[in-house]
Amino acid sequence: MPVYTNIEDLRRRYVRRTPKMFYDYAESGSWTEQTFRENTSDFQHIHLKQRVAVDMSGRTTRNQMIGEDVAMPVALAPVGLTGMQSADGEIKAARAAEKFGVPYTLSTMSICSIEDVAEHTTKPFWFQVYTLKDDDFMRRLIERARAAKCSAIVVTVDLQVLGQRHKDIKNGLSAPPKLTPRSIANMATKIPWGLEMLQTKRRSFGNIVGHAKGVTDPSSLSTWTAEAFDVSLDWNRIAQFKEWWGGKLIVKGIMAPEDARRAAEIGVDAIIVSNHGGRQLDGAMSSIRMLPAIMDAVGDKVEVHLDSGIRSGQDVLKALALGAKGTYIGRAYTYGLGAAGEAGVTRALEIIHKELDTTMALCGETDTRNLGEHNLYVPQGFG
Ligand code: FNR
Repeated sequence: MPVYTNIEDLRRRYVRRTPKMFYDYAESGSWTEQTFRENTSDFQHIHLKQRVAVDMSGRTTRNQMIGEDVAMPVALAPVGLTGMQSADGEIKAARAAEKFGVPYTLSTMSICSIEDVAEHTTKPFWFQVYTLKDDDFMRRLIERARAAKCSAIVVTVDLQVLGQRHKDIKNGLSAPPKLTPRSIANMATKIPWGLEMLQTKRRSFGNIVGHAKGVTDPSSLSTWTAEAFDVSLDWNRIAQFKEWWGGKLIVKGIMAPEDARRAAEIGVDAIIVSNHGGRQLDGAMSSIRMLPAIMDAVGDKVEVHLDSGIRSGQDVLKALALGAKGTYIGRAYTYGLGAAGEAGVTRALEIIHKELDTTMALCGETDTRNLGEHNLYVPQGFG
């Protein structure tokens, strides 16, 4: 494997190896992409406090998320169409996460099904559910997650309607890819990717087959979303999922203190401060900028996690020091997967782990559980 020293190295390799319609799908945000950009750039406004002459031996990044032991508080976020970035990508990512000792979250919109991932892993993973109107389908999906021994469900609440990404429409994104002269020409230059894809039959949405026949591309996906997704979703319905599931439940997509309070009231196990990686409400604040207000509102009532914009262990440390108990990476591991399959996901996790561990030491800390605002310089008015 080439020498990858940071996530950006993996990103560059991923872009070279993957057909344009799939890297554009991951590399874009909605509309002007303001929130997508600020998710990463806002981390730069927070500075770290260097400490010296502190005993750094016996350091650990070990911690817990929703009561589960993790090698570091960094989970893999749900990412749709992962199996088009690399053949059987969900299985590869889940296996890398399992070996590393961090949670893997499988998306409803995955190519490999819940059962495929369960068959190829040995430890429980988490399953992300989108909220569809169809109660029977929702119950079946939740039952499938139970049968697969998932240890938590992650209910994504920020996608009642779909944000628009211009690139996907222009590329005619679809799974499997539509064969146009342009897509064929592009795929022909991505030979290792194409050879891998030919070796698997998993090339369409594994979890929604049956419910969403014919959903392959953005136009059919947005029509299906408009028809199938629950536009009238409210907190009672989220509480109903909690009752059906009966296990650990995380709500993903909280960006307002009022919503965080409602989630805490219904007794969820964790909330994820997330703007969907800048793919939904363009113009929303970055997640890291939103975190302090949400910590003030519910930090003592519910476990708070964060995603959107994390590209390094330094970013993870900043989120933890501002109070998050856990973080997630979406694109950072997708780059690794597209660059080098399972080994690339492992490499992404190793890079982030090393950065987190070393940065923690340079901040004079030996345990992720002791991080706090004392490690940071946060500009006035941030958040
Ligand atoms: C996502 N995200 C996402 N979220 C979700 O709940 N279900 C999904 O199917 C998807 N699909 C998806 C595809 C792609 C390509 C991306 C990049 C993201 C959002 C994801 O879970 C997470 O919130 C973001 O990826 C976090 O931002 P970063 O880490 O990518 O900056």
